[in-house]
Amino acid sequence: METIPVNQPLLNPSALRYVEECIRSGWISSEGRFIQEFEAKWADYCGMPHGIAVSNGTAALELAVGCLGLQPGDEVILPTFTIISCAMAVIRAGAVPVLVDSDPRTWCLNVDEVGAKITSRTRSIMPVHMYGHPADMDPILVLARNNDLSVIEDAAEAHGAECGGRKAGGIGDLGCFSFYANKIITTGEGGMVLARSADHAERIRSMRNLCFRKDRRFYHTEMGHNYRLTNLQAAVGLSQVEAIDEHVRRKRWMGKAYTERLRDLSQIELPVEEGSAKNVYWMYGVVLTDEAAYDATEFAVRLRKEGVDTRPFFTGMHEQPVFQSRGLFGGESYPVAERLARRGLYLPSGLGLTEAQLERVCAAVRMVLS
Ligand SMILES: Cc1ncc(COP(=O)(O)O)c(C=O)c1O
Repeated sequence: METIPVNQPLLNPSALRYVEECIRSGWISSEGRFIQEFEAKWADYCGMPHGIAVSNGTAALELAVGCLGLQPGDEVILPTFTIISCAMAVIRAGAVPVLVDSDPRTWCLNVDEVGAKITSRTRSIMPVHMYGHPADMDPILVLARNNDLSVIEDAAEAHGAECGGRKAGGIGDLGCFSFYANKIITTGEGGMVLARSADHAERIRSMRNLCFRKDRRFYHTEMGHNYRLTNLQAAVGLSQVEAIDEHVRRKRWMGKAYTERLRDLSQIELPVEEGSAKNVYWMYGVVLTDEAAYDATEFAVRLRKEGVDTRPFFTGMHEQPVFQSRGLFGGESYPVAERLARRGLYLPSGLGLTEAQLERVCAAVRMVLS
């Protein structure tokens, strides 16, 4: 029996033409027309004025936090339930990550907890749009405005998702994206920061490229990074942006098809589309309820035996040994995130998933849970 993979990218014929152009012209590093076109098209799609392409989503987060000029002891509020890149970006900027729990339905940060965590040291809020569902941005923007905080969206998992008609990653001050191979649009490895202010954009462009000074080559007054994307990758990226509507359409078809077929099962909770959100179902997650006899690890093993590949949900930042050993998050507990980590996984969600494969996944889920 063939195993249905959890993901596979959907590459388009124009990618071949664009990459061929890079190779024929010799523009293969981080200079070339595809970088600018990819940046401009993605920023425009998300409704932001500036796009800075970088080598991956982790680098995007690092530069977005880095451009704020945080001081030691400054605080950034973020969900515990996310990828480690978010907390690392804050720590690498010399600041302190302050955690909040997740909303049990959307799995994004629980906005009601953010206000209580704001102190005189808070500088920024980092909402993460989880598995395709956008965080509830309006109350976050109000808190940010009232407390003079910046908002850094992590939209790595939510290309094309919307909150009240605005695109994820285009709502706050800075929006971060990953274009890893499992993302809705991909460059293999890659990322981008979208910036609302020209100052932030300029600073990020400089930090991306070793902080070379414009007035004197090889003379530096600050330390930067080499987080450049190549023209070859941007060529693939441009072809992907051109197909974004089709990619989002496929994901939403998949999300709705899974929900229709699984909604009667009392042993699992399914993704939602809350309020004014448009969910793009980056990955179709399910969370085992108390009615299920086992946890997500065992569920994954049993699905695997039926030829269905899955991935576990994130383990919260407060449960990460690497942070606990640095004395961070001692004694903190976030019950929703802890439950998601133990009882959540996602099903095959690739852009090329066929209806027959989806039916097979649903039959396996039903069989394993029965
Ligand atoms: C929410 C989120 N942020 C950031 C990243 C980091 O992206 P990358 O793997 O491109 O570094 C990921 C990776 O999948 C992610 O899921």
